[in-house]
Amino acid sequence: MKLRLYIALFILGFFGCSSPNAKPIEVLSPNTNINVDFNIDEEGMPFYMVKFNNKIVVDTSYLGFEFKDAPAFKKNFIIKNTSTTSFNETWQMPWGEQLDVVNHYNELKVELQEKTSPERFLNIVFKVYDDGIGFRYEFPEQTRFKGDVLITEEHTEFNLTEDYKTFWIPGDWDIYEHLYSTTKLSKIDAMSYAEHVNLAQTYIPENAVNTPVTMVGDNGIHLSFHEAALVDYSGMTLKVDTTNLNLKSNLVGSKNTDYKVKRSLPFNTPWRTIQVTDNAPDLIASNLIVNLNEPNKLGDVSWFKPMKYTGVWWEMHLGKSSWDYGMEMVDGKWTDTGKAHGRHGATTENVKNFIDFSAENNIGGVLVEGWNTGWERWIGFEDREGVFDFVTVYPDYDMDEVVRYAKEKGVEIIMHHETSAATETYEKQQDTAYALMQKHGMHAVKSGYVGKILPKGEYHHGQYMVNQYNNAAIKAAEYEVAVNAHEPIKATGLRRTYPNIISREGLRGQEFNAWAEDGGNPPEHLPIVVFARMLAGPIDFTPGIFNIKFDEYKKNNQVNTTLAQQLALYVVIYSPIQMAADLVEHYETNPEPLQFIKDVGVDWSETKVLNGEVGDYVTIARKERETGNWFVGGITDEHSRYVVLSFDFLDDNTSYEAIVYRDGSNAHWDKNPLDIQIKKKTINSKSELEFPMAEGGGFAISIKKK
Ligand code: NOJ
Ligand code: CA
Repeated sequence: MKLRLYIALFILGFFGCSSPNAKPIEVLSPNTNINVDFNIDEEGMPFYMVKFNNKIVVDTSYLGFEFKDAPAFKKNFIIKNTSTTSFNETWQMPWGEQLDVVNHYNELKVELQEKTSPERFLNIVFKVYDDGIGFRYEFPEQTRFKGDVLITEEHTEFNLTEDYKTFWIPGDWDIYEHLYSTTKLSKIDAMSYAEHVNLAQTYIPENAVNTPVTMVGDNGIHLSFHEAALVDYSGMTLKVDTTNLNLKSNLVGSKNTDYKVKRSLPFNTPWRTIQVTDNAPDLIASNLIVNLNEPNKLGDVSWFKPMKYTGVWWEMHLGKSSWDYGMEMVDGKWTDTGKAHGRHGATTENVKNFIDFSAENNIGGVLVEGWNTGWERWIGFEDREGVFDFVTVYPDYDMDEVVRYAKEKGVEIIMHHETSAATETYEKQQDTAYALMQKHGMHAVKSGYVGKILPKGEYHHGQYMVNQYNNAAIKAAEYEVAVNAHEPIKATGLRRTYPNIISREGLRGQEFNAWAEDGGNPPEHLPIVVFARMLAGPIDFTPGIFNIKFDEYKKNNQVNTTLAQQLALYVVIYSPIQMAADLVEHYETNPEPLQFIKDVGVDWSETKVLNGEVGDYVTIARKERETGNWFVGGITDEHSRYVVLSFDFLDDNTSYEAIVYRDGSNAHWDKNPLDIQIKKKTINSKSELEFPMAEGGGFAISIKKK
């Protein structure tokens, strides 16, 4: 139902108003809990404030821009016009955490004009929801900018009123794959974090954080700062003023230009977002980020089917096999000169083994990495342009045969494009590469952008790359291809507009447990991730490692959770593609826990966040679209705990069979990660059950009507 109501509640007295002392213009959330005030001060500087349940959460915060060849947008503004509207619709996700999404907000549009020459225009639009706010700048068509608008910095402030407990990663311009730090806002120190990371791969210029950044107040206020609809603009980091508890936008730049964003008029910036709730679960339930994006522009994307997948992947990260074959470049061509080392992973035979296993276990896809030439020179090389191509197979991989076999077994091959961040090579080949996929009926590609961006001087999160990622997805859609990017730009809800943007990495994923020298992801990692990174959108985390210690391959590495938690992640972490990441042999020796992976859904009609605290634990229940079966996952950090669940989300007067996979009584992420207890139970909507979670543990439940 679409309802568009024009309300004039707050407009009176503001037409042509330039008086700084007039009452601020106010807009409220539909439930009136959130209140945004906008005004300009004596000097004509625009600012806003946000109240939540009558408490100021964002105090007087200024808004503005600096430009390369034009005076800044700072002061000297008058309010030319304001208007408010209300909007309430329910839209449907083609795939997602739920089917129906309510998009209900009140909007305030403020039209500003400079009082004196050059008398340029700027509009600021606020959308106020029950679960937070979004605002953006709109640069209307005007002749008073000469040529393109060259933004050197955006000055958007978030002036906070409390020294929040903050869950942050540094404002790296290249990579989000960092461990979260938990400190008071006043203690954020991204620069000393930077001392411990490989700065050859990353760039951390200031004491800034990347978004989403999540905060919890002493009085229970939960905030998360992010952005929505990042299109043809630079990613925003937030510079932290630890003394004044102030965050300020700091856009990702480029060494190749003396501005950070170049746009022609008219254009809009991404939405600057603040999710505000009084509890942690509601942060996960919030749809603010997708709601702030435009509706589906692709139409029917039913060619993409949410699925679980296995793949030739973990074995390379463990060192069991390799991506490369052992070829040499001869006269500009990759050539088999007899140096094959025999450890190549993506062989026809190996992939068939994964296809068989997937077909037997209700798993829809198989990812194949290392199938194409070029892997001999992908990482650690300066000149990576022209190295990979996305059509030429290694001699021991028969793509036609693999695809034929997969089809026979009802399994889809997932394509892999490691670009090694050589963007020109990839851009040139996209049509050919996606056309090859279309020919073979492959509808999903995992892409990768490992290494420093080529052309040199660009960063993964700057405007140049934002356009690379977005354009690749738009082009892929023409070939009915869905994209799961690794080393991506952050998710900003664009999956609503382009529902072929299915998942992405953009965090420290499971792979770090295979090789990180710092011991991998600690048990608290995921209980933070779900309340921070996951607010941005789907995560290709690649759960399901059963052989937790993998001593056979790596003595000094392991997964830092229990086996039961690995199962829980299929429900807790949302993605329309979920990998069963471990080696086939590690699943085949563990048929009982494997049953959960076999049963668990990947596409949901409803999601309920049953409990949780940021950084500590969370329990999520999801209802599968196709079957109506429910699945529940709970995870904890390094502390053991009990959670009591009520199953009142189940249909009344109906009996269900539940299979519970929980930590055994001696389970512990390090000392005894494989201790798992699996039990069948009959439950109904009145049931209340207690679930113990071990240190680094969790539980998973599958629930079917009897
Ligand atoms: C990094 C990705 O995150 C990983 O999943 C992939 O296997 C390698 N790059 C190779 O592309
Ligand atoms: Ca990665």
